[in-house]
Amino acid sequence: MSFSISGTGSSLPREIVTNQRLGSFLDTSDEWIKSRTGIQERHVCTEETLRDLSVNAAIDALADAGIEAAQLDLIICSTITPDHFVPSLSCEVQKAIGALCPAFDINAACSGFLYALDIAEGYFKKKKDSKILIISADAMSKLVDWRDRSICVLFADGAGAVVLTQGNDLKAIKLTAKGDDQVIAANGPQGNSPFAVMEPYDPFVRMSGQEVYRFAVSSSVRDLANVLEMSNLQEGDIDIVLLHQANARILEAVSARMKIPQDKFPSNIAHCGNTSSASIPILLDELNRAGKLKPGMMLAMSAFGGGLTTGACILRWQGTNLSNHQ
Ligand code: UT7
Repeated sequence: MSFSISGTGSSLPREIVTNQRLGSFLDTSDEWIKSRTGIQERHVCTEETLRDLSVNAAIDALADAGIEAAQLDLIICSTITPDHFVPSLSCEVQKAIGALCPAFDINAACSGFLYALDIAEGYFKKKKDSKILIISADAMSKLVDWRDRSICVLFADGAGAVVLTQGNDLKAIKLTAKGDDQVIAANGPQGNSPFAVMEPYDPFVRMSGQEVYRFAVSSSVRDLANVLEMSNLQEGDIDIVLLHQANARILEAVSARMKIPQDKFPSNIAHCGNTSSASIPILLDELNRAGKLKPGMMLAMSAFGGGLTTGACILRWQGTNLSNHQ
């Protein structure tokens, strides 16, 4: 017994920032960004908070699942950019949607959605008929240094959500972590303790792009092969691979190495950029609303990011109210 995905939702900020607009204040170009990453534009918060995006995504996912917030047993949010440390993002959502259940946040950077699915699976073992809301949301525009062209052109803001109900659709899931504070790192608050030895404070995320690139391709290929083996499936059995939307070239490289055709790797990176842990559930919701997910399809998911963390899974798509009525 694991779960089924019964509803999906997502929310992006209204403001769209094109590559050309970035070129107006950075030494960069549409040509460089498009050819190196596949990104053409991204959504960036202006007046919206991460709570707003998360609540919108949650409401859409609950509506799709046909479930009232008061029926939820658990809310898990994955984020590295909450509006507040306390209350947690999940508690803010719980209050806004009128849920009554426990709620907590997790931090597994861009792999957060896969980590949340794994935690949820454990919860279903405890209580089979649970109803769980997962929201993966990040406002990376708060964490990037907008003077650093090597990072700020990549990241963006958004939230994706799923509602999980009793079912048997998760075929295999695998998480990894390899502690590393050099390849991707962002500091927490420094405070003003009169007792602390203060060091120069850098509030921005820093990343060694090429190292992450190599890590991303090799870990996704390894993790996807592992979850295929765990579920006794072959590459050819997979209908769609939802890979973390970090770089179109990473999608192409994983597709080539896995010998899974490129057309099975849908992508929204051109208009969403890298929304960290939100990227896979946003893409899932877009595909669901576009009628591209058919009941019975076998989906693979794979994510990688700061930590360093990775996660992958194989999941059968049963369909939500949206996909079953298209
Ligand atoms: O969510 C998970 C975390 N992130 C990732 O998965 C990112 C993984 N890494 C990547 O996607 C790629 O490594 C990047 C897109 C970050 C960079 O692409 P690259 O092909 O590895 O470029 P590079 O870092 O080797 O830089 C090539 C050149 C450099 O100039 P020089 O030294 O050759 O003169 C950079 O300074 O491109 C320059 N550059 C830029 N030029 C124009 C770096 N950023 C930019 C920019 N515009 N925005």
